[in-house]
Amino acid sequence: MELLTLSRAARLAGVTRGVLQKRIRDGQLPSFEGLVRVDDLVRAFPETQLEDNAELARVSQIKERAFGRRVYERALPDKEVLAARLGALGLELAEVKAGAARYRALLAELGRRLAGHALGAWLKQELEAGMTQAEDERRMLAQEGVMRVMAPHVKVMPGGQEFFVEGADTVLDAALHAGLGMAYGCSAGNCGECRARVVAGSVKQVRHHDYRLSDAEKAQGYALMCCCTALTDLVLEASVARFADDIPLQSITAQVRRMDPLSADMMLLELLTPRTNRLRFLAGQSAQVVLGGAQATWPIASCPCEERRLQFHVRRMPGNMLSDYVYARLRVGESVALSGPVGDFVLREDGARPLVFVAWGWQGFAPVKSVIEHALAQEGAESIDLYWIGANAADHYHPKLCRSWAEAIDNFRYTPLIAGAGLHGEVTQAVRAALAGMLRDRGPLAECDFYVAGDSAQVAASRTFLLEQGLPQAQLVTWVSQ
Ligand code: FES
Repeated sequence: MELLTLSRAARLAGVTRGVLQKRIRDGQLPSFEGLVRVDDLVRAFPETQLEDNAELARVSQIKERAFGRRVYERALPDKEVLAARLGALGLELAEVKAGAARYRALLAELGRRLAGHALGAWLKQELEAGMTQAEDERRMLAQEGVMRVMAPHVKVMPGGQEFFVEGADTVLDAALHAGLGMAYGCSAGNCGECRARVVAGSVKQVRHHDYRLSDAEKAQGYALMCCCTALTDLVLEASVARFADDIPLQSITAQVRRMDPLSADMMLLELLTPRTNRLRFLAGQSAQVVLGGAQATWPIASCPCEERRLQFHVRRMPGNMLSDYVYARLRVGESVALSGPVGDFVLREDGARPLVFVAWGWQGFAPVKSVIEHALAQEGAESIDLYWIGANAADHYHPKLCRSWAEAIDNFRYTPLIAGAGLHGEVTQAVRAALAGMLRDRGPLAECDFYVAGDSAQVAASRTFLLEQGLPQAQLVTWVSQ
């Protein structure tokens, strides 16, 4: 019986991995060491439409709408890569066909020998029933074959993280798009930092590299992930950053790529890092920015899945040197010195609990946005709730983005709240009421992971309230503006 990884099963069923994991936890879908059977999947999601690559289109659509402009401007796989993937699939198909022919002959012979016996009649009946029952399974398997050619699956050991290699991506590109902190340095074949051991499956080199792997490394299956793509599904042994301490401090110079107003007092500043010197960071971390003789540590509002693009949300604050410089003098193309990353407001990856984000005022949204986009790229969260608590409506300076998440993504809820004058004091009655409502909707707090970002008073008040309500300390991650 064909077994599927959770990631691929989720794509075939057109749901996120988090939704699939919930079905498994609720006993609605059997799993075997992290794998699910095709027939069980068909039974659990009978409504799944398998025609016309519906699930692929759906996943792409979700990402496209959620991430806006940047997604899937990627090309199809290279011709040679496609041909090699089809070749690998063809070999596998030939083996399966040969095996099936052997079993068919065996069953035909068995049928002949059992003719006239009750056992023979039972065998005939079971075989005929199986042919009709398996129609949906066959169609799902056909789709799975298409997905293996278009988007091979990668599992990284020992952490067990999973992602797909789509389009013309290298394995490293694909890992970064999926929000995975795979180790790398130059991303150009020079430093060897991205080398990983291919434990199962095969890769194809698609970019030249100057870094030389030793003969011993080659014999053990090592390859440079920034220079190869997946020919088949892969299992890799690779180092992946999961905690803030896993990433070294870096200093780079980036260029201003665009500056767009998000509201009257908030500017989107997007920087582009050099191709061979990107900033490695985890979603939710910050970077120190030096501009026009002033410096500050700002939360990075984008997630690592944006690759070379780093976004910051800059508040207009007359009298603040850095803000004044950005609003009055900064131009597209100008160089910006960056160092980082710093901070530990990062997504916990040790559980698949529902995620609840609380962004306070205009300060709290940027780091929360980064972590939410990372969670969306990982497709692992069972559900996501975002509460954005502003002093007034103007504090919700990115409402379209939040609404597009809520519209495009199953189990994503966005609740904008106005706290009024109480924003900077105690947790107001309105917020208490909203959080209490969330408790009614979502069940016990102990089942959720909370991410709270704001100034020190807002975060302290939220912490007190949430711990009083029974949230375990270990399930609360906070970010405090400087
Ligand atoms: S990241 Fe430097 S060789 Fe791949």
